[in-house]
Amino acid sequence: MLDRHAYVGAAGRTSAAVPRADLTIDQDWSAYTTEEHGIWRTLFHRQQHVLQGRACGEYLEGLRGLGVAADGIPDFRRLNEILGRTTGWSIVAVPGLVPDAVFFEHLAARRFPSTCFIRSQAQLDYLQEPDIFHDIYGHVPLLMNPVFADYMQAYGEGGLKALRLGALHHLARLYWYTVEFGLIRTDQGLRIYGSGILSSKGESIFCLEDPAPNRFAFDLHRVMRTRYRIDDFQETYFVIDSFQELFDATQPDFTPYYERLKHESDLDPGELVATDIVLHHGEGRPTAH
Ligand code: PHE
Ligand code: FE
Repeated sequence: MLDRHAYVGAAGRTSAAVPRADLTIDQDWSAYTTEEHGIWRTLFHRQQHVLQGRACGEYLEGLRGLGVAADGIPDFRRLNEILGRTTGWSIVAVPGLVPDAVFFEHLAARRFPSTCFIRSQAQLDYLQEPDIFHDIYGHVPLLMNPVFADYMQAYGEGGLKALRLGALHHLARLYWYTVEFGLIRTDQGLRIYGSGILSSKGESIFCLEDPAPNRFAFDLHRVMRTRYRIDDFQETYFVIDSFQELFDATQPDFTPYYERLKHESDLDPGELVATDIVLHHGEGRPTAH
């Protein structure tokens, strides 16, 4: 998985598609080969197995609702019909990572930029950049959830503001530790909602079951202080109690946070500070919730 805020260059499908002004292209669904559909099927079957009892209910429900299945690479036109009538989001095809401002403009308008090429057979386990499996299987199902859908739009608006304030490196950490690598606490224990995990077989198991990484209760300011790894499994995951909690915590104006962060040093990805609340895999929500 890759850091959209550090990546330069983009490897798209070898098509002659020339992007429009907002950098979108056509998915050109009929051009996918049998082999490409086969790679989707392999990845899909593998993750369906791994995500049983590991992915959160909201994600699995979104996946079912979209009818994203094993048959092959989904057609964005079909997904957009369902997404549009459920939460008003749509998927737009892009050739690869787009510049931050363009990305945020799309999110703020409830459009999710998705790549359309699929990784090769040799890259089943690891890929340096987002592909259609990561973007569609990993990101899009949660856009069916009304609260998460609003969070993503708010993030887009917040991104444009962070750009103006020169604070994007702080806000990018929020995206990283929630949208890409977030965990959520349910009555059954910790579950995955971050797309970077959901589309990775190895990290899906590692993030919940390996004793090595930290699993800390979500704390907005703490998250925006914490650097992250782009080249390996995370050393720290932040755990929310609900999407509503995440949405509410991120509603206040971030300007004072950015001010305060200017005077504080960053934390290392694996660091533990005195105020961190450590959570464990099998740990459900406290009964008071
Ligand atoms: N409240 C944030 C701000 O003032 C915007 C935001 C909302 C950012 C939700 C991320 C997620 O900048
Ligand atoms: Fe992603």
